[in-house]
Amino acid sequence: MASQRHLFLQHCAQTSQEPMGIEVARAEGVKLWDVNGKEYIDLIAGISVNNAGHRHPLIIKAIKEQLDKYSYLMVYGEYLHQPMVDLAKYLSDNLPKTLDSTFFVNSGSEAIEGALKLAKRWTGRSNILAFNNAYHGATHGAMSLGGSYERKQAFAPFLPGVYNVEYNNKESLNKLNDSFAAVVVELVQAESGIYPISQDFLEALKAKCAEHDILIIFDEVQTGIGRTGKRFAFEYFNVVPDILVLAKGLGGGMPIGCFISDKKKMQSFTENPVLGHITTYGGHPICCAAALANLKVLFDGNIIIKVKEKEQLFRAQLKHTKIKALRSFGLMMAVQFESTDINMKVIHACLERGLITDWFLYADDCLRIAPPLTISKGEIKKACQIILRSIDAVYTNS
Ligand SMILES: Cc1ncc(COP(=O)(O)O)c(C=O)c1O
Repeated sequence: MASQRHLFLQHCAQTSQEPMGIEVARAEGVKLWDVNGKEYIDLIAGISVNNAGHRHPLIIKAIKEQLDKYSYLMVYGEYLHQPMVDLAKYLSDNLPKTLDSTFFVNSGSEAIEGALKLAKRWTGRSNILAFNNAYHGATHGAMSLGGSYERKQAFAPFLPGVYNVEYNNKESLNKLNDSFAAVVVELVQAESGIYPISQDFLEALKAKCAEHDILIIFDEVQTGIGRTGKRFAFEYFNVVPDILVLAKGLGGGMPIGCFISDKKKMQSFTENPVLGHITTYGGHPICCAAALANLKVLFDGNIIIKVKEKEQLFRAQLKHTKIKALRSFGLMMAVQFESTDINMKVIHACLERGLITDWFLYADDCLRIAPPLTISKGEIKKACQIILRSIDAVYTNS
C-alpha cells in the first residue's frame, strides 16, 4: 500500500522539491506531534499565524459555537451576520478612528490586492511605490510589488506602474510625485530577514505622501496582532496609515485577511462601478468568530506585554561564535549563518531534535524564529538549547 508520504508527493501540488513533510497527528499550544509520537516545538507558528498557540480553547469554543448556528451563507457584503459585525467593530475599537471600515477577504495577498484597488479607485491614479526586498504575497498584483526580481522574473510581465526603490533610504522618496496612488510598506521587512523601518525614514515618507496626496498602505500581515510586542507595529512609530492590511495572525489559525481604511474611502467601492471589489468567501462567519476570539485572547490578556521580554530571553540564550548576526523585532527573528548550506543543515538538525524552524524567502542563510506568542520561558530555553546543539553538530560533522 502506498504510504501517506507517497500520496502527499504524488497528489498534492508541491511548492518545493524538499517539503518538510512532517506527518502531523495533533497540535496543542506550542507543540506538534507526528504520527509516530515524536514531539516538536513549533518555532514558526505556521509562519507567524498561530499567535495564540495551536488550538487555543477559547478559539475552538468560538468556532464550535458558530458552527452550531450557521457556517457559510453568502458572498461578502450582502448579509448582516453577527461574527463579522462584531469583528469589524472590535477592530475599529482597537484602531485609530480613521481606520473604521474593514473589508474582509481570505488571505494576505488578497488583502493587498484589495488595498491596491482601493488606493487606485480613491486617488484616480495608477502608480504604486514599493521597496526592494519587500514581500507582499504571491498573487499577480501582490507579487508585482515584491522586491526580489530574481524570485518573480519567471512570472513577468507585472502590474504596470509599480516601482521598487531602496528601503530606509530617504533619497528613494524623490521618486514620488502626483502620479502615485500609494506607497506600500512593511514596518519590518520580514522575508529579507527582519529589517525594521527607521523612524526617520517613515516620517520622511509620511511627509512626502502628505505633500502629494499619496495614500500610505501598511502591510502588517506579519507584524500585526501582537507579534512585535504591540497590537500593531505602527503603534511604535506614531504614524497611522491610510490603509492597514492584516492577515496571518488575525484568524487564530483560520483563513482571513482584511484591509481597513476610513469609511469614506471604502465607500468608493460601492459606485462607479457598483461591487468594485467582491469576494465569495470574504467575512466567512466561522473565520470571523475565530478571529474575534483570537483578538480577545491576545489584546485583552497579558500575552503581548510579554513579547519584548521573551525576545530578550531568546537574544540572551542564542550566543554562539558561529552565529553571524541576530536580528529581531519582538518575536520575529532571523539568526544568520555564514552560508545557506550551514543554515539548511542547522534547520535539518533542529528538526531531527524536535524543533521546527525555517528559512526566509529572500534570506536562505537565516533561520526563522516566529513562535506562538504564548511560548513559555522554559520552552524558549529548550528551543535555544536545541539550536545551539544543532549548530555544534553541524560544525562537528562538516
Ligand atoms: C508581509 C506579508 N504580506 C503579505 C503576505 C501574503 O500573505 P498570504 O500568504 O496570506 O497571501 C505575506 C506572507 O508571507 C507577508 O509576509
